[in-house]
Amino acid sequence: METTLIILKPDAVQRGLMGRIITRLEEKGLQIVGAKLMQISPELAATHYKDHEGKGFYNGLVSFMTSAPVLVLAVRGIGAITICRSMMGATFGSKAAAGTIRGDFGVSNSFNLIHGSDSAEAATRELGLFFAAGDVLEFARAADKWVYDSSSGKAE
Ligand code: RTP
Ligand code: MG
Repeated sequence: METTLIILKPDAVQRGLMGRIITRLEEKGLQIVGAKLMQISPELAATHYKDHEGKGFYNGLVSFMTSAPVLVLAVRGIGAITICRSMMGATFGSKAAAGTIRGDFGVSNSFNLIHGSDSAEAATRELGLFFAAGDVLEFARAADKWVYDSSSGKAE
């Protein structure tokens, strides 16, 4: 099982799309194991996006991410990092494929609705930035036996 950090960005919250985006993740079979509505500080945004510091879009990105509240989620499942990235779609809303979250809900290249960790290392680092110990839960869902095939002894 992997856990990834998802952020529903200020545009998703302001446009009333939180529920529809969460529904997509849940319908896929992914499990929401942490959730926090919060306003990101400039310091936290800078730490979160430190790999982009110095790039032309960096200042605009930090100012967008701190402009209004976001919903931060911890999302769990087998292969959750890759699955969430493919459900998000390409970075720019103008290029993201139909059927993806960015492709279906937006046209903007910077207001692109959702962040998802892009590797296991990033997920560990980012979950640690946004959630305190104990805020990400471990719990079984009754539906999991129908989400994953465990007949071989290993969920797949
Ligand atoms: P994110 O980190 O937000 O999940 O997005 P991503 O992996 O798809 O894209 P990334 O390359 O990490 O870029 C982070 C955010 O910066 C903005 N961006 N603007 N104008 C540009 O060339 C440009 N490139 C990136 C986007 O808002 C992107 O989500
Ligand atoms: Mg990224």
